[in-house]
Amino acid sequence: MIVVAGGTGFIGSAVVRRLRARGRDVAVMSPDPERSRDRIESLGVAAVRGDVRDEASLRTALEGAEAVVQALTFPTFPVEKPSRGYTFEEYDHHGTARLVAASADRGVGCFVYSSGVGAAPDAREARYRAKWGGEEAIRSSGLEFAILRPSWVYGPEDRALNRFASLYRRLPLVPVVGDGRQRLQPVFVEDVAEAIVQATDSAGPRGTFEIGGPDVMTMDEIVTTMMEVMGKRKPILHVPPALPRVAGFLLQALPAPPLSPDAVDFLTSEALADTRGLLEAFALELTPLREGLSTYLRG
Ligand SMILES: NC(=O)c1ccc[n+]([C@@H]2O[C@H](COP(=O)([O-])OP(=O)(O)OC[C@H]3O[C@@H](n4cnc5c(N)ncnc54)[C@H](OP(=O)(O)O)[C@@H]3O)[C@@H](O)[C@H]2O)c1
Repeated sequence: MIVVAGGTGFIGSAVVRRLRARGRDVAVMSPDPERSRDRIESLGVAAVRGDVRDEASLRTALEGAEAVVQALTFPTFPVEKPSRGYTFEEYDHHGTARLVAASADRGVGCFVYSSGVGAAPDAREARYRAKWGGEEAIRSSGLEFAILRPSWVYGPEDRALNRFASLYRRLPLVPVVGDGRQRLQPVFVEDVAEAIVQATDSAGPRGTFEIGGPDVMTMDEIVTTMMEVMGKRKPILHVPPALPRVAGFLLQALPAPPLSPDAVDFLTSEALADTRGLLEAFALELTPLREGLSTYLRG
């Protein structure tokens, strides 16, 4: 059985659907399967209860697992809420380390982690230092592993490009934070899911791989492509980052803050992936942005 921790989420559910389509035995791990029942039922798979903050629950959840996929994050992602323990450090670093320890205990054959492009011990952003901490826990565990580091993932349920799509539908223009010139490599969620699925095979690729789409594009080019797929171009309004940063600072006090200064920094940063290792090791054709968007976006 393959246990997908975070299998109810954006990337995790795409992984679960693909595993099912290949006839693999799969279970979703959720901290509260009852709360996520509708989602789990719609995926048509079994659920196990497991919380990355609770090591004992993970040992039970991983009973009989031959492979484990870690594609989870805290509920207010990407906005941290330290007062509730919702931080990258708690989930990506310590949470991954707990899941790795439970996997080693259970003799799991392979551990696959959805990390992030930019993971590094000395990264400026906490999220990438935490991802590095999680990666190191995997690399030093003795488990067989594949670490995928996605850049900017888009798809029908993403929380990034869909915000622009929603603004496009409601406004005569589309606001973009910053100058819109930062370069990104948007990668279709189905491509990330396919790579993760290949890595769960007992003879699948092993190591650490960056994954990004085939097109290097500025944020303005991405938003323009999205508008073209949705019907017509509208003007882009560049918003100085200081404004949402101040708003993010004030909104941090909310129970589920929609924005934080760090999230604004993330929105305006570059995210490029070196895909050479990935394309050598995996049987994968990366989907161009326009093609990926055309599969689900309408005007
Ligand atoms: N989205 C992107 O663009 C992107 C890009 C690069 C890397 N990544 C990484 O990929 C991973 C998945 O991202 P995503 O966007 O797919 O996440 P997501 O849609 O927010 O899904 C989060 C998942 O985590 C589970 N979860 C929450 N708290 C948990 C806990 N305490 N213990 C166990 N599971 C818990 C949730 O389960 P319930 O809903 O059942 O509670 C849900 O399935 C993250 O590590 C993220 O950093 C994402």
